[in-house]
Amino acid sequence: MEYTEKVLEHFRTPHNVGVIEDADGTGKVGDASCGDAFLMFITVRDERLTDIKYLVQGCGAAIATCSALSDVAMGKTLDEAMELTDDDIAEELDGLPLEKLHCSNLAATVLHRAIADYRRRQKVDLRNWRSLYQR
Ligand code: FES
Repeated sequence: MEYTEKVLEHFRTPHNVGVIEDADGTGKVGDASCGDAFLMFITVRDERLTDIKYLVQGCGAAIATCSALSDVAMGKTLDEAMELTDDDIAEELDGLPLEKLHCSNLAATVLHRAIADYRRRQKVDLRNWRSLYQR
């Protein structure tokens, strides 16, 4: 199994690692079969991603996919970011070993979950409109 130079670069010096304490949205994916877990945090301003951070428990490929995703998605609108796929991230890294794809290439999926979480938080529940006046 060989990693590309880009995977190794991101693995050695991953970009945007960390936590956003007051994130506007968070996403999580875990693969119980190999114990990997991805957590992602986003901040959003005017429907645009202004910050992305993540924590990964996984192999070098998993770290590299999150790092590359954070570079590619930063500054995109939410709609643009929702169009990114896990395959786009593998391409951005000039490919990943086949045996790593199933659990290490989930960064775009985790980002989509964080955006879905953000959108859920933005929805006003009209059935509970009184709560808006009680804040
Ligand atoms: Fe499971 Fe890389 S994250 S093998």
